[in-house]
Amino acid sequence: MIQSDNIEMLCVDDIHTYYGKSHIVQGISFNVSAHECVALLGRNGAGKTTTLRSIMGLTPPQNGKILFKGVVIQNLPPFEISRNGIAYVPEDRQIFTTLTVMENLNLALKKHQKDDGWTIEKVLDIFPALAERRFNRGNQLSGGEQQMLTIARALMSNPDLLLLDEPTEGLAPIIVEILLEVIINLKKEGLTILLVEQNVSATRTVADNYLILQQGKIVYQGDNEDFWATPALQKKYLGI
Ligand SMILES: Nc1ncnc2c1ncn2[C@@H]1O[C@H](COP(=O)(O)OP(=O)(O)OP(=O)(O)O)[C@@H](O)[C@H]1O
Ligand SMILES: [Mg+2]
Repeated sequence: MIQSDNIEMLCVDDIHTYYGKSHIVQGISFNVSAHECVALLGRNGAGKTTTLRSIMGLTPPQNGKILFKGVVIQNLPPFEISRNGIAYVPEDRQIFTTLTVMENLNLALKKHQKDDGWTIEKVLDIFPALAERRFNRGNQLSGGEQQMLTIARALMSNPDLLLLDEPTEGLAPIIVEILLEVIINLKKEGLTILLVEQNVSATRTVADNYLILQQGKIVYQGDNEDFWATPALQKKYLGI
């Protein structure tokens, strides 16, 4: 596998994704470079989740190409895409509510652990709130703690690319701040992140580049500076 830093981590090239006859993702192309965070924005129903699901192979695109670390992945099943190094954190927090934090993390541990990969200890270091709750069950956790556990579980697969779907949704501002700090730390750890958010202001400190989706098409691509220097964008495409 090619592991050069010179190539893009993810190349999405003119993908089209359907739900039945509905043409949802209508020819999207973008790149995500290694170690950067790209924010994917757009109104409700724009196709953000479908784009993440397309990359993960959960709703595979019917046309177009997706390259991850130089390897064609758009025809692979989700478990192989995961094995290649992509982890998906869906909107609905996927944890086992009757199991403890430790049990949830243990179940997510991969059989093929990497020597330099994530361990439960390392994950608990990055989420001190979870460390304190390690013997509590999923259903005893706050919304923020459940979101942290969902991300922690995703990290156990040692991904290079993390797909986060609205991680701050429904969380109190103080918890949002904590999560954003975690995302910044994950970037420092070398992760590449594709971040879907409705909470646009929350992306300001973490996103290097921006994409805006409208009705299944990309209508804007730009860097952090350009995005925040152009408030008209938010008004036009996001209704803010
Ligand atoms: N399983 C499905 N079957 C049919 N249509 C679907 C399905 N899931 C989503 N859609 C439709 O696809 C379009 C895009 O949905 P998607 O969930 O990707 O949008 P989104 O940008 O993530 O929106 P939100 O901000 O509400 O999460 C919407 O019109 C939605 O109704
Ligand atoms: Mg969505």
